[in-house]
Amino acid sequence: MPQPSSRQQPDRNLALELVRATEAAALAAGRWMGRNQKEAGDQAAVDAMRLMLSTVEMDGVVVIGEGEKDEAPMLYNGERIGTGNPPQTDIAVDPIDGTRLLAQGRPGSLAVIAMAPRGTMFDPGPMVYMMKWVVGADAVGAVDIDAPVTRNLEAIARAKGKDVNDLTVIMLDRDRHDDLMREVRSTGARLRLIMDGDVAASLLALLPEKNIDALIGIGGTPEGVTSACAVHALGGEMIGRLWARSDEEAARARELGFDLDEPLTTGRLVSSTDTFFVCTGVTDGDLVDGVVYTARGATTESLVMRGKSGTLRTVRARHTFDKLMTYSSIDFG
Ligand code: FBP
Repeated sequence: MPQPSSRQQPDRNLALELVRATEAAALAAGRWMGRNQKEAGDQAAVDAMRLMLSTVEMDGVVVIGEGEKDEAPMLYNGERIGTGNPPQTDIAVDPIDGTRLLAQGRPGSLAVIAMAPRGTMFDPGPMVYMMKWVVGADAVGAVDIDAPVTRNLEAIARAKGKDVNDLTVIMLDRDRHDDLMREVRSTGARLRLIMDGDVAASLLALLPEKNIDALIGIGGTPEGVTSACAVHALGGEMIGRLWARSDEEAARARELGFDLDEPLTTGRLVSSTDTFFVCTGVTDGDLVDGVVYTARGATTESLVMRGKSGTLRTVRARHTFDKLMTYSSIDFG
């Protein structure tokens, strides 16, 4: 009997292992919902995620992490993660995207991990912000980063076969977006403002069933790189540009070799399509449900994606009380 060629051999889907780490982060952090302690909630997620990631068979380097080593003892940029055996990977972690949402008990906070082959993730260095446009598969090619907002929204509407009035744009509610909001409103498109969490918002724009046609606005560059891994899996497009808050920041960025005019495409943000992306809901949201604690343990809901195959799984998991105790950072006495 002929053996299947190596191309046909099923290989590992690392995302199925990584989802245990976002589940652990969500289970630990979920206890901090509404306690108004941003740092404690984030720390709980970091500790649990780090613990679980250490068991994954890989030689990972954190490219997008909690910050430089002197400010983040765990999951810092440059930290080696995993068992040290192949494959060699770049990792982006966001133990909680939406720390304020969690602290205030609002919807939409997520635990997130993305992964790509070594050397393929854009390293934003100190560049905190980037302008982003995210659209789903049916509007790829519609956005020209140099074009006015109105023209881009018209092109997205055309690509989707609808009227601009029928579009819904999602945007972080920030003063820096005042002009952008005015421009979107002037087109007749509907605008949904969110307090935080533009990773979840990017996914809402990518998933056709979620009724969001585009994410627009300036958000975190790390979150942009992370979301680009999901774009490779779901289809669609992210395009943006680094955004400096001041002339000093712009000058410093240029000194470090960043090109502030360069369009950051999905492929520039993550140059391989062999990506993995996982997220688990911490608080309930439009994307996934949050953690529910029960008499016997807890339940979580996660999205698990792979760029190479375009697979998207929804994973609902039940966790036992014992497992919860492993991750808990609160003594309920
Ligand atoms: P944190 O959870 O790290 O606070 O990030 C939340 C977030 O809303 C991101 O989703 C977004 O990219 C970024 O902050 C926007 O930054 P800022 O709050 O400074 O406008």
